[in-house]
Formats: sequence, C-alpha cells, structure tokens
Amino acid sequence: MNSDVQIQEPVSYSNFEAPLSHFELRRSHFRSSRLAHLTFGNGKRVDFPIVFAPMAGLSHVAFRQVVRSYLPAGVSTLLFTEMLSTRLLPDEDVGQTPQTQVAPGEEDLIPQLLGNDESLIEKSLEKLQAIRPAGIDINMGCPVSKVLKHNWGVALMGDIRYAEKVVRQTRRLTPLPLSVKMRTGLTDDPEYLVDFARMLQEAGADWITLHPRIQAHHRKGSANWSYIARVREAVRIPVVGNGDIQESDDVLRMQVATGCDGVMVARASTARPWIFWQVGESLELPPPPGREGEQSPRTPAEEGREYGLALNHFCDELEQRFLPEQQLPRLRLFLAWGHKWLFFGHYLSTRVNRCTDLPAARRVIDAFFAESKTMQPRTSLQ
Ligand SMILES: Cc1cc2nc3c(=O)[nH]c(=O)nc-3n(C[C@H](O)[C@H](O)[C@H](O)COP(=O)(O)O)c2cc1C
Repeated sequence: MNSDVQIQEPVSYSNFEAPLSHFELRRSHFRSSRLAHLTFGNGKRVDFPIVFAPMAGLSHVAFRQVVRSYLPAGVSTLLFTEMLSTRLLPDEDVGQTPQTQVAPGEEDLIPQLLGNDESLIEKSLEKLQAIRPAGIDINMGCPVSKVLKHNWGVALMGDIRYAEKVVRQTRRLTPLPLSVKMRTGLTDDPEYLVDFARMLQEAGADWITLHPRIQAHHRKGSANWSYIARVREAVRIPVVGNGDIQESDDVLRMQVATGCDGVMVARASTARPWIFWQVGESLELPPPPGREGEQSPRTPAEEGREYGLALNHFCDELEQRFLPEQQLPRLRLFLAWGHKWLFFGHYLSTRVNRCTDLPAARRVIDAFFAESKTMQPRTSLQ
C-alpha cells in the first residue's frame, strides 16, 4: 500500500466534517489505486478512477455523453450502464435498445447484470459482446422488493454460498474484468460484510464497488464510509467507494478517509456532471476538450449557468439518440434528481412534467434559464 495515503480508523464524525486542506486533497491523487493495475476489455487502463454509476433509467447513452463532455482531456475511467436484466438481454438486439445503445468510442463501459441464473448470464454475456464491454458488473445492491423476490440484487448478499456460486459461474463465462456492486447487506454486520467481500475476491471478482447502506435504508440516512475503509483493508482487489458524494471535494475526502481505489458518483452527477471536471481540476488535470483555458464552474451562479447548458446538451443527445416517445420520460427522470440542487428547480421540474413532448420541454427550459439561476452545493439528498 502506498504510504502517502493513511487509512483512518472508522470515522465517528459525519462523513463531511473531516477537515481537509487542499494540499491533503491533492496529495491523495488516487496514486495508489489498485484499479490502475487492471487491464480492461479493449485494452483500457484506468487513470482517473471517478466512476459513473449505474442508475436505472439514467445511465443511458445520452447522459453518458454529457458526463463524457466534462471528463478532463486524456483521462480514462469507467462508465456503468443501467442495470440490465439477464431475463431480457438474451432476446434483445443489444446495442439497439434504449438501455444498451452506445455512442462511437465508448470503450470504457461496464454493463451491469441483474440476475442469478447461469444459462441466462451466459446468453447475456454473449449478447453484450455487440457493445464491446470493458468489463462486467453483477448487481448485488438493488434493494427494491420486486428484485428481492427473484433473489437478485442485494438479496444475493443474504446467502453467501449462493452469491459465491453466481460469481464463480460468471467468472468462468467471461475473460473480462468482473466486478460486483454491493451494499453493506441485508443487516448492519461489518464482519459479515468483510467475509462477503473476501468471498467475492476468492470467487474471482476483480474489483468491488461498495455502497455502504443496508437494504432497508435504500438511499436514506448516511452511507457509512468507514465500512469502505474496512473492506479495502480486508481484500487485495480494488475497492471503489460509493455513497453521498455531492461536491467535488467529497470525492477526494472519501478517498483520503477510506483509502478507496476509486469513487463512484450517482445522484450528484445528475445535478453537476461537471463534478468530473472539478475533481480533475483539483488534481491539476487539464480541462475537458473544448473547454481549454476555462476554469470549472464553482460559484452558485456559474453552476446555475452550467446546469442550463448541460440540460440543453442532454436534450440534444436525447433528440439525436432516442425516439420521440422515449425522450421526455428520460428528461423528466434526469430533472427529478438533478433539480434538487437548483434554486427554483422544483418549479422547473414541475413545468417540464406537464409537457407532452421534448420540444415543449425545451421551450420551458429556455424560458427558465433566460434569467440567471443559481445552484447550491449540497441538499438533504432525500
Ligand atoms: C434513479 C436511480 C437509479 C439507480 N439504479 C441503480 C442500478 O440500476 N444499479 C445499481 O447498482 N445501483 C443503482 N442505483 C444506486 C446508485 O448507483 C448508487 O449506488 C446510489 O445512488 C448511492 O450513490 P450516490 O449517493 O452517489 O447517489 C440507482 C440510484 C438512483 C438514484
């Protein structure tokens, strides 16, 4: 382990009170990231391990294109697809469905599988070759009851031997780097969590993403970052931390507090997808292509302006890549999460929800941003 990065004892303070100077933040630099040692499909290596999360209905090609437009020039990271049912994939035209469409050059994709059946996983993996994945993820975190009743998602964490079988079988079926995105589990038992993570490693997982909340908490309360540090110390494989990132300094704070090998951002990327640019800037990386000579948006007014630009870019991508009837539901979902950081965002989201097509929604958005708007750094996240 790199001696530059001190892993702290489990934190007793709130995740966000840890005082960190910018010197410390820069020092973290993810230099010791174990992810950098993995070679992904398409020959990909990761040197900027700020990972874009799987989000059902959101982590589609249009949103990924917006995120990509904010990646520092020349960096390489990983972007997840939304969860993909192994019951559906075998009969789908992968690469053509809304959930599996890709843009040219997307060689860093991690499709996330939802399922547990070996033959369906095998057929799904065959189908996914059409989009040339960089790696494969198994979902062991989804907490919703209709997933649990099939023994998918976080339900798999309730039966360590069954989960082991699923990972071993998948390991045999693909040469690609294999990851598992997991929660704390069904109960708050850190020893079980560590045993589970070690089992994943022995069963052939190449890396783990940990969202340290139990199933019953869904996304309520605070993620317990101290569990990320515990799991990272207990295994040899890379551990990506996830949970409650809102601002760019949170990314670096999580890395310093837990020693994690990467940080996954979900909800906050719907509000400030330029968080990837902000983190890069803190790490003294270049701005995104096309933004040379610019600083990342930082003030409430700069972020408010950028949100309007990002929404317009998102709408352009929806128009270009989705059928008319597929566009508005995706815009609504994007705004349902992202508006929480935007002053008067609820007003905007409500007005867009009343529209019947994307052109009408674009007019609402243009009118809203005709006057300058501001964004706040944090929300209650509930
Ligand atoms: C709308 C939405 C959909 C999600 N869908 C998935 C999913 O398909 N697969 C998954 O593993 N996690 C899913 N998640 C969980 C996120 O990937 C992430 O673990 C969680 O939101 C915590 O990260 P955050 O605090 O950065 O939002 C979803 C979250 C949201 C808000």
